Amino acid sequence: MNLHFLDEGKGPPILLLHAFPLNSTMWEPQVTALKNNYRVIAPDTRGFGSTPVADTWTLEQAADDLDQLLDGLGITACTVAGLSMGGYIAFPFYAKFPNRVSRLILADTRARADNEAEKRGRTEMIAALQQSGASILPDRMLPRLLKPNAAAPVVKQVRGIMATASAMGAIFALMAMRDRPDMSTVIHRITRPTLVIAGDHDAVTRIDECRGMAESIRDGKFVPIPDAGHLSNLENPAAFNRALLDFVG
Ligand code: MLT
Repeated sequence: MNLHFLDEGKGPPILLLHAFPLNSTMWEPQVTALKNNYRVIAPDTRGFGSTPVADTWTLEQAADDLDQLLDGLGITACTVAGLSMGGYIAFPFYAKFPNRVSRLILADTRARADNEAEKRGRTEMIAALQQSGASILPDRMLPRLLKPNAAAPVVKQVRGIMATASAMGAIFALMAMRDRPDMSTVIHRITRPTLVIAGDHDAVTRIDECRGMAESIRDGKFVPIPDAGHLSNLENPAAFNRALLDFVG
């Protein structure tokens, strides 16, 4: 599958994998901070942004898409950063193509599969999308993605990105996330330097879960992002970028 992607800057390559139900444009503050010294590649996952979707997909297929993307760009290995759903894709990518990853950044994400309640939540949201379309996304997702009383410009920005999502794109991604396998054993196999980041108000992946993940990774480091919910890169870009730049050097 050919992914649409943003490609800015020159230098060591960094692949940025976006959250659900957003697209590559959610990385704007990080592209700005990185592009003077790095080549930033941010793909749109199947069904989001400018990458079309025609059928169901799995996170393993999304990992294969990244392998194909890097092949096309002539990049052997790079830093891979995934936030939330982007992290769910980074795990199978690392499991399948460890030599393509030089450093790993796991932001507001987890390795375990959905539990039964989370799976039911996805199935219920799929039904709501089938019935009412993509317009339900902001009301459903904003309380999950942003901290309570999030800053108005961030709410506006996230609403704007979400407004570009299609019902089918969101449905196929929800199925992929609901049916994803447990990747917990991958954590113990990660040998690359790994930065784990979490917003201190993250309502989806709790900060303690992220801290625990960093402690289980051989060369793992944990950085909490203050005053941020799940989309820690957008809610506190200064702290997120500092953690990122300190890590990539
Ligand atoms: C995301 O931000 O990618 C999603 O909220 C992840 C999830 O729902 O598990």
